Amino acid sequence: MIVTTSELFKHAYGKYAIGAYNINNLEQTMGLFKGNLDSKAPFIVQISKGARAYTHKLMLESLMLTADKIFPDAVFAVHLDHGDEETCMDCIASGVYSSVMIDASHYPIEKNIEITKRVVEAAHAKGIVVEAELGQLKGVEEDVSAAEHVYTKPEEAEYFVKETGIDSLACAIGTSHGAFKFKGEQKLRFDILEEIQRRLPGFPLVMHGSSSVPKDEVDRINAAGGAIKGASGVDASQFRGAAKLGVTKINIDTDGRLVWCRVHREFFRDHPEKFDLRDPGKVFIPEYAKFIANKNELLGSAGQLDACRAACTKR
Ligand code: G3H
Ligand code: 13P
Ligand code: ZN
Repeated sequence: MIVTTSELFKHAYGKYAIGAYNINNLEQTMGLFKGNLDSKAPFIVQISKGARAYTHKLMLESLMLTADKIFPDAVFAVHLDHGDEETCMDCIASGVYSSVMIDASHYPIEKNIEITKRVVEAAHAKGIVVEAELGQLKGVEEDVSAAEHVYTKPEEAEYFVKETGIDSLACAIGTSHGAFKFKGEQKLRFDILEEIQRRLPGFPLVMHGSSSVPKDEVDRINAAGGAIKGASGVDASQFRGAAKLGVTKINIDTDGRLVWCRVHREFFRDHPEKFDLRDPGKVFIPEYAKFIANKNELLGSAGQLDACRAACTKR
């Protein structure tokens, strides 16, 4: 059942966070749906601009519609990750997406508001909800790169949410995209979340760049021929604390890429005679499902599926 992210957030707020997982292909989609059903979790499927461009934008949309048919128990949102205005408008028109993210966070706040408002108006007219971002994650986001963290300012967050009418807000609190998040100790600014929650009680917040980049995963990749050096991620024991402070959506992409990389490197190392793409795929799908189910335990979304379904309205 495809629902909006807002429906999911109503059930999760203050109790747990929903996993928002990026997909790019068929095997990932199969593993994703299986993992969420195995762990009885509602979830968000994220499709980035890059994922839309990888084959054809309609490919992943049709996978979503098919997955909805073959997994009738799944409760999920189909969400555009880091959209620009043009891509948001395209997804709003598609009839498949239930949620879009407009990422105009690299513009000055007034321009961010102007763009975000146009997307909110178009989305809400079709029953689609909108995530926007204020502050900037260090590193690359939506083709734009920031040399340092630009932390979200709580007073601006309050103003931004009221001006734009958005449904959820991505906040920059010290995470970043990719596999190289921290040099030395990780510092997440939970004080910023606390202050935003005080100013916007009950309003759903989003944490991007939340992969954990597990050391054992990276070690296995490197032992199978990889060369990933100095990688580090977010300590997953932080998720529950973030959820209490209003974080209802936690974005994870990199960790799934690491699972894919580890499975395929180990598979071809151990089976140099094989060349059928389905052979590693058959290993990857259940491994990916296991990875998703484990994440959902950490997020607190595991076991929430039935209660969430009962509380949610289909889009
Ligand atoms: O935030 C970015 C996501 O990890 C998506 O990455 O743009 O390479 O698909 P991508
Ligand atoms: P990671 O790179 O930490 O997985 O973050 C993904 C993300 O924020 C997608 O929007
Ligand atoms: Zn992101």
